[in-house]
Amino acid sequence: MEVKEPSHMLEKTEQSLPKQLYFDVEHFEKELDVFWFRKWLYVCRSETLEKSGDYQVFEIGGQSIVIVRGKGDKLSAFHNTCRHRGSILTTESKGCFKGCITCPYHAWTYDLDGQLIGTPHKLQCDDFNKEDYSLFHVGIEQWEGCVFVNLNPEQAPALREVLEGSSLLPELNNWNLRDLRSEYYSQMTLNCNWKIFWENFSECFHCPGVHPEFCDIVPIYGRGLLDEDPAVLKNHKSSPRHLPEPGFRPGAVSWTLDGQSDIPAFPDLTEEEKSAGFHYFTMRPGFIVEALRDCVVLTRILPLGPEKTEIIMEILFSQSVPGKHDDGIKKINEFLELVMLQDCRICEINQKGLRSNRFTNGVLVPQEYGVHEFQQWILRELGEG
Ligand code: FES
Ligand SMILES: [Fe+2]
Repeated sequence: MEVKEPSHMLEKTEQSLPKQLYFDVEHFEKELDVFWFRKWLYVCRSETLEKSGDYQVFEIGGQSIVIVRGKGDKLSAFHNTCRHRGSILTTESKGCFKGCITCPYHAWTYDLDGQLIGTPHKLQCDDFNKEDYSLFHVGIEQWEGCVFVNLNPEQAPALREVLEGSSLLPELNNWNLRDLRSEYYSQMTLNCNWKIFWENFSECFHCPGVHPEFCDIVPIYGRGLLDEDPAVLKNHKSSPRHLPEPGFRPGAVSWTLDGQSDIPAFPDLTEEEKSAGFHYFTMRPGFIVEALRDCVVLTRILPLGPEKTEIIMEILFSQSVPGKHDDGIKKINEFLELVMLQDCRICEINQKGLRSNRFTNGVLVPQEYGVHEFQQWILRELGEG
């Protein structure tokens, strides 16, 4: 389980992870097993599967997973593989099954719970029982309108336990995530290892060069610092008497180019939650929530290969906002898209340089304490720390 470590500057430089961990195929297989095939992974908002039969397909490290809405509120998840001879069940990334799932090869038919209900011809043998050939189930649970899957549910802790360990609970209670709706969705395939994306997310040492617009509204980012921890500020040696206030610059209230937003704050937020500006929550290995006074940003990370990673970004707003504040929504969406594209580009650039014969591993400087903590977590989970 993830434990949030106190943030503090590194007191000395630290070795970064060996370069092979970012492209070696065998190592990637090990990481799939340790991180991606055992842990709860956010996949989508439940409202994107609106009616019975609606489905979406997700790829997680070479595993194709179908999520389908059955009757009522019930969601099911299966491997996208027929029990007959292993064909995939659907080639589309989303759609609606009309009452049942029919394999495109020999037309075996499954109900929306994954039970085999029919084969097109009566099978002339006595040793075949339909009950033995249900689709391979995947664990699925929901929290606040977010759908999570687990490829090894028998061995996994309950989702709620993981959420509590990840700081998403109860800190996000006042945002009432279940009532929010997505007004922005983008899907990007990055040519980099999944850890590169996390590492970039875990430091702001890159911010002055990569995110000038972000630094303009969050001055502390312009100093290469991610954190508002007083200990960090105290230890920052560059100009200790001129360190900016944490959070937004005076007058800025949201993530837009000019820092302005006409979207009302979520009604249940405390004054403290509103004035803090923005809050980060993470649930490794694949989910980041950024909660602001007027929107919530969900980022989903899924590995497609050792050097290929899929990133989804969704921006949620109160349902009362569209129509009344469309320009406000657009301003936030455009700003976050800009920042995300800046990050994605720099992650790919990072990946490209790793294969140099001379490079073995990087070095972490004091400001990269978040990267160090992430890498220590990686090693611990792999049993190598
Ligand atoms: S492989 Fe699916 S019915 Fe034959
Ligand atoms: Fe960034």
